[in-house]
Amino acid sequence: MNVIEKLGSCGVIPVVVIEHAEDAVPAAKALLAGGVDVMEITFRTAAAKDSIRAVAENVPEMLVGAGTVLNLEQCKTAVEAGAKFIVSPGFDKRTVEYCAANGIAVTPGCVTPTEIMEAIGCGLQIVKFFPANVYGGLSAMKALSGPFVGLKFIPTGGVNAENLKEYAAAPYVYAVGGSWMCKKDDIASHNFEKITFLCAEAKKIFEENRR
Ligand code: 3PG
Repeated sequence: MNVIEKLGSCGVIPVVVIEHAEDAVPAAKALLAGGVDVMEITFRTAAAKDSIRAVAENVPEMLVGAGTVLNLEQCKTAVEAGAKFIVSPGFDKRTVEYCAANGIAVTPGCVTPTEIMEAIGCGLQIVKFFPANVYGGLSAMKALSGPFVGLKFIPTGGVNAENLKEYAAAPYVYAVGGSWMCKKDDIASHNFEKITFLCAEAKKIFEENRR
């Protein structure tokens, strides 16, 4: 299974914000205990790079990637630290072209036909759809999947345990992303049991409803 296939196989991708790199390994283990073996650590904190490295080096069962990657420099930093996939909130051509040229899995945020066409032009068939709840959610993705045959989305932003069932059941949804399974506050307070519970719940809902 390649990296993109692993994201699809897991189905739920926790968007993780870590303030202290020493929390990264316990957080990764909490996700694994809930059956979630992919983890997007976001470049929103100074601890992102060290957190990615800690998980890549110490938790081999976890497929760790970098999120909130805004430019090529961050992308290179993330890959050097051990990130196996790159997620961006939007479409940055230099980052996507670099990943495509170097065999690195990348899911840029694309919500317009023009952005999707750019992504397809770079060889992608899976894109992030962010913020999903603001840009039209399922009805927008359904409309976009008409002309873009074979394209699938990873909706992120506003996805949670309550609406996950509808997202999972949509044939044009490849996987979903979100922060609800592994909240910043739960990491900070070391509430790892709650993280495990929320991951297991999300996994169950996704598995029971996926197409
Ligand atoms: C992201 O970066 O993908 C989002 O912050 C996740 O959105 P959520 O917090 O609504 O899940």
